[in-house]
Formats: sequence, C-alpha cells, structure tokens
Amino acid sequence: MSRLDWNSHPSRTLQGSVRVPGDKSVSHRALMFSALADGRSHIRGFLEGEDTRATAAVLQKLGVHFETPADGERVVHGVGLHGLRGTAEALDCGNAGTGMRLLSGLLAGQVFDSTLIGDASLSKRPMRRVTEPLALMGARIDTQDGLPPLHVRGGQALHGIKYTLPVASAQVKSALLLAGLYAEGETEVIEPHPTRDYTERMLAAFGWPIAFEPGRARLSGRHTLRATDVDVPADFSSAAFFLVAGSIVPGSELRLPAVGLNPRRTGLLQALRLMGADIRIENERESGGEPVGDLIVRYAPLHGIELPEALVPDMIDEFPALFVAAAVAQGRTVVRGAAELRVKESDRIATMAAGLRAIGAAIEETPDGAIIDGGALAGGDVDSHGDHRIAMSFAVAGLVSQGSIRINDCDNVATSFPGFLELANGCGFELSRAA
Ligand code: S3P
Repeated sequence: MSRLDWNSHPSRTLQGSVRVPGDKSVSHRALMFSALADGRSHIRGFLEGEDTRATAAVLQKLGVHFETPADGERVVHGVGLHGLRGTAEALDCGNAGTGMRLLSGLLAGQVFDSTLIGDASLSKRPMRRVTEPLALMGARIDTQDGLPPLHVRGGQALHGIKYTLPVASAQVKSALLLAGLYAEGETEVIEPHPTRDYTERMLAAFGWPIAFEPGRARLSGRHTLRATDVDVPADFSSAAFFLVAGSIVPGSELRLPAVGLNPRRTGLLQALRLMGADIRIENERESGGEPVGDLIVRYAPLHGIELPEALVPDMIDEFPALFVAAAVAQGRTVVRGAAELRVKESDRIATMAAGLRAIGAAIEETPDGAIIDGGALAGGDVDSHGDHRIAMSFAVAGLVSQGSIRINDCDNVATSFPGFLELANGCGFELSRAA
C-alpha cells in the first residue's frame, strides 16, 4: 500500500470556525459501557476515526449490535455485563492503545478466551503496565515479552485490589476499573497524579456505584449498567493543533465550537497562555456531564517557558503541538517529566526532535523531555513515523516555515482526526497530498 504524504506550505492568516471531531477517549468508553449495559444507548458526536471504529468492530465480533443512524452517531444494543460471546478470531485494535488496554481489562472478566492484536506501532507498546496489575486481580493474560498480541484467558475468578499506579495513566486505571466490574469485592485505583476521569464519570452516568475524586477511584463488582445516551464533546486534543496554528500565524483568529474542557485535558491551554497566547473561552456550559466551551484563539507573539511539570499529565497528547509552538517562540522552552512520550504511537520526543531538526529548529532531546530554542523554521522533509499527532503538528509548522514541509506517512491521521486536511484548508492552511 502506498503511503500518504503531505506538503504543508506557508500560509496567510487563518480565519473562521473549525468544528473538530468527537473526543477519542469518550468515544471508546461510550462504546464499551453501552455494549455492557442493559438496553439501548444512543451515542452522538461519536468520533468516526479508525481507532474508535476498531473498538466498535471488536465489540461487534463479540456479539454487540450497532446501528449507524448518521455519521457520528451509534445506537448500541447493549448485551448486559455477561452477554458478550467469545470468538476464535483475533480482535484487532488497530493503532489504538486505549482500545487495547481498556479491552484487556474488560475481557479479563469474561468466561471465554480472546486474543487482542494491533498494528505495527501498537505491537511495540508496553502492555505489562496493564497485565501485571490485572494478574494481581486474578486475570491470566499472556504477552510477547510484555508486548501485544495479548492472549486473555477467560473463566478466571477476579477479585478486587487496591493498586497505586507507578505512572499516571488513565488507560491503566480504566482497565482495572473495567476488570473491577467483574471482580469479587472492591477495586481501588490510586494515581500519582490525577488523569482524565471519563471512565469514572461514565460509569456513574450508566448507574454503577463508584466513588471517585481526583487521583483516586473505588468501585465494587456485581452491579449492572443501565443504557444511557452519551453526547461526546469535540476533542480538545484535535482542537490543540488549531490553538497552536491560530497562535503562531500573524493576523489569525479561529473559533473552535463546543470543545470538551475537562480540566484533566486542558493543560495545553494553560501552557500556551503562559507562553503569551491569546485564547478565550466563551459559552462555557455542561454537555453530557462534561464541561464544554467555544475556544477563540487570536495570533499573539509567543515566548519560551519552563513548562510546569504538574501540567504534563493534563496535556500528555499535546506535546507534539507544544513543541512546534516552542520552536517558533521567542527564547527557550524546557520540558521535563514527560518520559511517557517515549511510549506513545511513536517515541514522540525522538520523532519531534528529528523532525524539528530537519526543518531547521534548535532542539535538544533529554531522557524525559526537550530543550527547544525558538527561531525561524526553514522547511524540509520530516517523517511522522506513522504517528497521527506528529503529522498534524508538522502541518501546523508548515504554516510559518520559510519553505514548505513534506510530511511522510500521514495515513494514520485518520485514527483520530478524519477530515483534518479539508478542515485545515477550510480555515487557511495550504496543505496538499504530495505526489
Ligand atoms: C487515554 C489516556 C492517555 C492518552 C491517550 C488516551 C485514555 O494514555 O495518551 O491518548 O483515553 O485513557 P495513558 O493512559 O497511556 O497516559
């Protein structure tokens, strides 16, 4: 299969309203909880991305019936907590770490065996962080030296544990809570730093008794999930590219309507404001139990910062975009405490450092971050390593570089942001498919 490359050319100002797609984390969870619920749930604002569609396809193979009344909508016919059916077929999570890690917890509680597989990138991502605590709960999951495929043995009697996560990870927390639905007794997860709490909020919305506060969640097994309609907000992580783009292209003003503003997701907003960005929030409201608002970003000259480490978990997916902002800001930006970036869809510290250097930026890699000295970008060829967020970040960099940027291997943008190219060009990007 030939790979899709992009050319991103310098642009004039960016203007207009940009409606970014639904939240990936919320979409994955909405599928899983409505599949395990009793009754019919209607999901609106669903992300039609490859990652979330892969999760839907897995659930379908396990016997869940979905209807698609319109793009971005799913009606899920829940089968109940014990209604999934086993299959001998491998369950393909594609590129999605969230899909695989959450499903490992969910499948650990079933009576049947299953096998989870993923693409080349997912097959290199660490899984012991979920399989080890799940084993403490009585689960039996075989890995290939800590990597996928995962062979999950069914029919194990799970019991609750109290577990302190060694690294802040909403995926691991969620896997344990999902296994906890099937466990005897209480499951409690404690985090070194609070992470996104969609699993906790959604379990409560589906009627499962759960106690949670930032950094801690506790539930016990043997209840039921009640079908519930879910309104998925627009994904802050997708809005992030436009927040940076609007901040760095002189004369720009962009409006991003109805973006999810869960405080565990909006670290980039704070980081950009510390750098001097002009971003306002209007129409703050609640939708489907989540804070949402319209974001208005205007061009403003940015300066480098020492990024407060406490912001790292709240912007863990936004570092590729932040690195681009730092590369064109006045002065030095220092990022520390972000070693997790090395085990994302690519090693995001190494991939961003190589790409930024290739287009003329000054960046020094450190084991857990980077030191970036802002300046002018020349343009050139960069490799996204098949990482969606790297590809979109360099599309943003191309807006302000002197020459254009050719970005290799952009197919995976469809995992989280289908239609990015069209939406970006609609507000003034000069992004084209390379010949
Ligand atoms: C996610 C958690 C984060 C994030 C990922 C989505 C989730 O991963 O990077 O894109 O939906 O729970 P970690 O749990 O590995 O930090």
